[in-house]
Amino acid sequence: MKRKKCYIVFGAAIVLAAAAVTAVFVDRYYKSLEKSEILKIGVLVYKEDDTFVGGIVDEIKRQGKEYEREMEGRFRLDFSYAEENQSIQNEQIDKYLSLDYDVLCVNLVDRTEAAIVIEKAKAADVPVVFFNREPVPEDLQQWDKLYYVGADARESAVLEGLLVVDYYKKYPERLDKNQDGVIQYVLLEGEIRHQDSLIRTEYSIQTLVNAGLSLERLDGGIANWVRSQAEALTAQWLKEYGSDIELIISNNDDMALGAIDAIEDWYISFSNIVGIDGTPKGLEAVESGKMIGTIVTGQEDYARVILDLAKRMAAGISLDGLDIREDKSIRIPMYSINSDGEIRRLEEEGKEEN
Ligand code: BGC
Repeated sequence: MKRKKCYIVFGAAIVLAAAAVTAVFVDRYYKSLEKSEILKIGVLVYKEDDTFVGGIVDEIKRQGKEYEREMEGRFRLDFSYAEENQSIQNEQIDKYLSLDYDVLCVNLVDRTEAAIVIEKAKAADVPVVFFNREPVPEDLQQWDKLYYVGADARESAVLEGLLVVDYYKKYPERLDKNQDGVIQYVLLEGEIRHQDSLIRTEYSIQTLVNAGLSLERLDGGIANWVRSQAEALTAQWLKEYGSDIELIISNNDDMALGAIDAIEDWYISFSNIVGIDGTPKGLEAVESGKMIGTIVTGQEDYARVILDLAKRMAAGISLDGLDIREDKSIRIPMYSINSDGEIRRLEEEGKEEN
């Protein structure tokens, strides 16, 4: 077991070292450009007020500005928001392509509409880094200059389920409040067309069932990732089911925070809530004991990986050393954190088991 672990650590070190070496090439390449030559990257975002995506975009802006300065203006980023309308995003793509941008980073409005974006980019020979809203696999295979950066939805759901399982083991009476051996729950779902909603809903529940917990679904509803919509749904459920609700499972932190808003409006004490994202406000709620826990996907890491891919492709530099999977995706690592401050990573557990 030890031995295998050693190989894994060694392998990871090689990948990191290779990434560092090629990063030096990337910087060297940019510095070798004429001052008048600017490599331009367009970042297209599905809407402006999404908390989690907004955090990633803020980081891309921060890191991008730093790089712009380091490269003395030979590198440049521009941003567009699509008001949740794929036609608007398609027009924005046309604009960037007509202005000869070198790479596009696209947070699709409608992930099933990737083919149109790909067709335009391919015709102009401009590589695309999709992020957070994942095109279907067939679309990503259409061309070799397409990649996806995102978090593994299934991993986040399993970790979310395990947060509940661990909590139940530790504090059974806090979760199964009526002591009937069954956990009565409600579930807040994200946008219907988003890959994360479907997968997170399925696997968070599956993880509870696999651990042997008996469950009863009282209700569930789509709140589209949005705090105010989740608050409205939860208020409705509190009216209908009151203290029968023993657990609120949310596909993301913002909706979990919406549930907390409703609970606070009712002046009741209830904190059996789990979320996903690890946004600053989500983490605050966990720390202050208003939630059982959340799953943290580092927004800094997310931004760094997107930028690294984009910078290399803009310069036509090899992608060696980047941790690209067979499905042409790079997955951002994540961990769960609970209100007792305990951290858990599935990846490490997998290694331990080997
Ligand atoms: C996040 C949500 C976010 C959505 C936007 C999901 O991965 O968990 O918080 O609203 O992406 O696409």
